[in-house]
Amino acid sequence: MSIRKIIALSVGLFCLISAGVTLAQNGGDSAHGEELFKTYATACHNTMKGATPDMYGVVLPLHGIVGTEAAQTKGFFYSKAMRESEIVWTEENLDKYLEDPKKMIPEIRMEFVGLENQQDRLDIIAYILSTQNDDVEEETN
Ligand code: HEM
Repeated sequence: MSIRKIIALSVGLFCLISAGVTLAQNGGDSAHGEELFKTYATACHNTMKGATPDMYGVVLPLHGIVGTEAAQTKGFFYSKAMRESEIVWTEENLDKYLEDPKKMIPEIRMEFVGLENQQDRLDIIAYILSTQNDDVEEETN
């Protein structure tokens, strides 16, 4: 990589940091992801630690979802398709799922068309991850 390119990348990173943008490992901006989550997901999901599904079976908590197998939240009525999917919510699988949920798992009950913009998907995943990391911090303090 040329010196000029290294300088350009460092300046770019410096601008992002000084603008208060924190990039998660996946390159996602969790602050922007939180905004997107509020816009697209909060009608049906939250990221609150210890949250349980609401009594109407509408709100499905996603706290701690990254790295876990699909359809594990007790008290939520998942579709057969989701229960039998055997998917593990790695960042890659979440990215693919959020692009087009019903393409990845047909017959699911999630009425969401997906997000075409990959950076938006990475930002949402970074946000969900950031809520998960809160746990680690709490435990270590
Ligand atoms: C950015 C937006 C969204 C994200 C990141 C998201 C994420 C997820 C994830 C990761 C799961 C699997 C959970 C698990 O395995 O426990 C899921 C399932 C589900 N989501 Fe979403 N979701 C979004 C938008 C929505 C919206 C708008 C709705 C309601 C209209 C919705 C309703 C559901 C339902 C009902 C399920 C269970 C599906 C089934 O059992 O077939 N989601 N969602």
